[in-house]
Amino acid sequence: MPLPEHGLTTAEIVAALDAKRTRDARWHEGRTFGLVFDGGPEVHEVAEAVAAMFLHENALNTGAFPSLGEIQAEVVGICAELFHAPPTAAGFMTSGGTESILMAVKAARERGKAERGITDPHMVLPASAHAAFHKGAHYFGVRTTTVPVAPDWRADVDAMADALTDDTVLVVGSAPQYPQGVIDPIPELAALAAEAGASCHVDACMGGFVLPFMERLGSPMAPWDFRVPGVTTISADLHKLGYVPKGASVILHRTKELRRYQTFVFDGWLGGLYASPAMQGTRPALPMACAWAVLHRLGMEGYLRLTRATIDAAERIRAGIAGIDGLAVLGRPDAHMHAITASDPATDVFAVGDALGEGGWYHDKQSPPPSLHATVSAGNAPVVEEYLADLRACTDTARGREAGTNAGYATLD
Ligand SMILES: Cc1ncc(COP(=O)(O)O)c(C=O)c1O
Repeated sequence: MPLPEHGLTTAEIVAALDAKRTRDARWHEGRTFGLVFDGGPEVHEVAEAVAAMFLHENALNTGAFPSLGEIQAEVVGICAELFHAPPTAAGFMTSGGTESILMAVKAARERGKAERGITDPHMVLPASAHAAFHKGAHYFGVRTTTVPVAPDWRADVDAMADALTDDTVLVVGSAPQYPQGVIDPIPELAALAAEAGASCHVDACMGGFVLPFMERLGSPMAPWDFRVPGVTTISADLHKLGYVPKGASVILHRTKELRRYQTFVFDGWLGGLYASPAMQGTRPALPMACAWAVLHRLGMEGYLRLTRATIDAAERIRAGIAGIDGLAVLGRPDAHMHAITASDPATDVFAVGDALGEGGWYHDKQSPPPSLHATVSAGNAPVVEEYLADLRACTDTARGREAGTNAGYATLD
């Protein structure tokens, strides 16, 4: 497609882009179980107002835009408080879970080199850890040992202990992990890391804005945050269950000294001192300002309300699935995520996913084992009954069908 010779009008552009969206997932109707998390009208209103205010600014240089330095410090401070970080803690905002995880891997590598002279760094992670850790290993030259999970889908501590070597710089756990929604045994994993002098990263990209509120609402909660000795870094995504528009996550380090291993500082070129906290150079201000705005719009009360609605919806859905012949939930999820699998050979769960998709419901497909991923959030709460009725009908329809397609979880074009 060539660049148009003459510019289009705003109305033409809006119409053209609107036309492109007709086949997009219907998140605003509560029909997506992942990808977009809808905090409701008050969140939209404040995010849209603030997005317009901060559309053009650049957080590459917070000297030029001190507002963005303050916004980042305050957002990080709120997260530190929520995750019971010590006063020594320090962090940065990033563009998302992947960037936060990449920075945890990079920081662990640098720490291993500086403190233990490790030149061939290695990390140990459960098979359930997010693919972003492998991306980080690939980018930063860190070897991986991926350890199968225990039958309850949690990290297998003994098997992880066996995988540690003298070169291990990082041990990974998730709270909760993405595929089945269970929280790994973080105290045991952090103890392994501490004993080896390695870093321990807790991936709370999904749980960071759910677990603290569940705990306040009185749910029994496995220890996962900075109250666990040995946890060195935590990632948490504002743009997931923080209900912030896309492009906002936080990485926290237990101390400012540990955070130094994350940053990149360089002055060996003709452009002067260049200091950068994470992967991006130019950094959009919009997600940072929206994060500040949504955190302040919702407040503790708002997050407790959304978390209550989310967990109630997730539990109603899981109870409904238990009553559908041919389907089951894998393991015993700890919070708002679960995986739906076939409980008999006559049911192809991907065919169920295809049938749901025809009705406008969206689940990511995952394997092994073949299952439909569900991250439940507050936006799903109003349509739980409708969803369960369709899920039951689609399971019946899928029985007579060819095997479903596994479209995967990827974008290469
Ligand atoms: C547990 C977990 N960690 C990390 C990520 C990566 O986050 P992002 O897609 O924002 O890069 C995800 C994404 O779903 C996740 O579920």
